[in-house]
Amino acid sequence: MNNREIIVVDDNSSMRLGMVESLRRDGYVVREFDKGSDALAAFRQRTAPVVITDLKMNPITGLDVLREIKQLSPQTEIMVVSAFGTVDTAVEAMQLGAADFMTKPFSAEELRFRVGRLCEKIDNAKALAKLQEEYTVLQHEVFKPYEKMIGQSTLLRQVFELVERVAQEDSTVLIEGESGTGKELIARALHQRSRRKDRPFIKVNCGSLADSLLESELFGHEKGAFTGAVKRKKGRFELADGGTLFLDEIGDISATMQVKLLRALQEKEFERVGGEETISVNVRIISATHRSLTQMVQQEKFREDLFYRLRVIPIQLPPLRERKEDIPLLATHFLNELSGSRHETPKKISSEGMNLLTQYFWPGNIRELQNLMERLWVISDSGEIDEAMIAQHLSGSTGRVAGKFDHLPLEQALEAFEKTMILQAMKKTGQVKNQAAKLLGIPASSLYYKLEKYGLL
Ligand SMILES: Nc1ncnc2c1ncn2[C@@H]1O[C@H](COP(=O)(O)OP(=O)(O)OP(=O)(O)O)[C@@H](O)[C@H]1O
Ligand SMILES: [Mg+2]
Repeated sequence: MNNREIIVVDDNSSMRLGMVESLRRDGYVVREFDKGSDALAAFRQRTAPVVITDLKMNPITGLDVLREIKQLSPQTEIMVVSAFGTVDTAVEAMQLGAADFMTKPFSAEELRFRVGRLCEKIDNAKALAKLQEEYTVLQHEVFKPYEKMIGQSTLLRQVFELVERVAQEDSTVLIEGESGTGKELIARALHQRSRRKDRPFIKVNCGSLADSLLESELFGHEKGAFTGAVKRKKGRFELADGGTLFLDEIGDISATMQVKLLRALQEKEFERVGGEETISVNVRIISATHRSLTQMVQQEKFREDLFYRLRVIPIQLPPLRERKEDIPLLATHFLNELSGSRHETPKKISSEGMNLLTQYFWPGNIRELQNLMERLWVISDSGEIDEAMIAQHLSGSTGRVAGKFDHLPLEQALEAFEKTMILQAMKKTGQVKNQAAKLLGIPASSLYYKLEKYGLL
């Protein structure tokens, strides 16, 4: 901190020498001048972070020096010294941007203190500027391009980079990752950054539909194709024309559907169910799965030819436990979001609590973290969420409670377990059903249904 340059201007040589010697003893590098014009010329050649100038000098006064230097380099800190210390001149100097005003005579001690204070101010300003710069870079790199995607771990950044590189291409992407890792978010990010962004993004959940339904969802059907097909319906392939078709849970489709899908991908054309007309579309295919397709191919549960068609560009989303750095960021983000949407003061997690979150295994990844934060947010009545509370809710969802129902047949055990969970949630939320439903992670309508079923209404 002492290793700094200071310019000293004073036409009184003994005064000047006194200051210069004292400053040099403290380790400053000092350039000294007896005329304002010389000091300014030297400053123009090379600036300095600190300038000390006498006030009464001729023909160029201390205020002239001050004015000029502030114009050349606004961040330079200037101290004006004068034997004629009136309040007026001090005020004027300050208004012109002087950082300090010191009346002569002064002790070496006072000089050291005041110069030290200026240097500290400079250091702080620099540190702040650096922080702001880092923050801006961070915002740009991480937050901006992925409005809702939080994370700065190396693993996630690599994913962002890959997304950036392939979004513009039309190549087929397969997103692999455990449940709740953000596969859908990545699929949407790919679409938003593609040339197709103004065209539709259509999602099909392949895991939740029986074959016949899935086929008509994907390819559409003609009127009368099957019972209930009262009119012609366009399939998702057609709806996605010009845009992106997102095939979620692709690992769950049957062997028959694998063949049909392969054909549509290879030929880029298909027929509606019960139809003759061949329809061709221009869609980009993004698929996702929480299973290991590679393994499924080895076990001959997934067609190899379809696998290669889908996996032109693989994107692997790492589980949360492999990018622990992101956990505090995400937890804070979700809490802030909750407070923001409810216009309430933010809640914080204690540092021990945060440690616990970081150590947890997160089988349900980000979705699980998000749900937990919501639960904690609802339950906690103070501004801080602590370790004990988190521990209770992490373990509450697994293991502990199940033991009580060991002796019952599965069906009854499940019901008893469900009933207990519901009663607990109702108790914790003071019988407020909407909140209890939130706590349980189910829609309020399902809670009502269950309350009725168990005679708890
Ligand atoms: N990096 C992230 N930052 C903020 N929120 C995220 C991030 N990744 C995922 N989420 C949120 O976590 C939840 C789960 O994400 P998403 O649905 O994309 O996961 P998924 O991998 O498709 O899960 P599943 O396999 O269960 O379908 C969503 O609410 C999503 O908004
Ligand atoms: Mg998903």
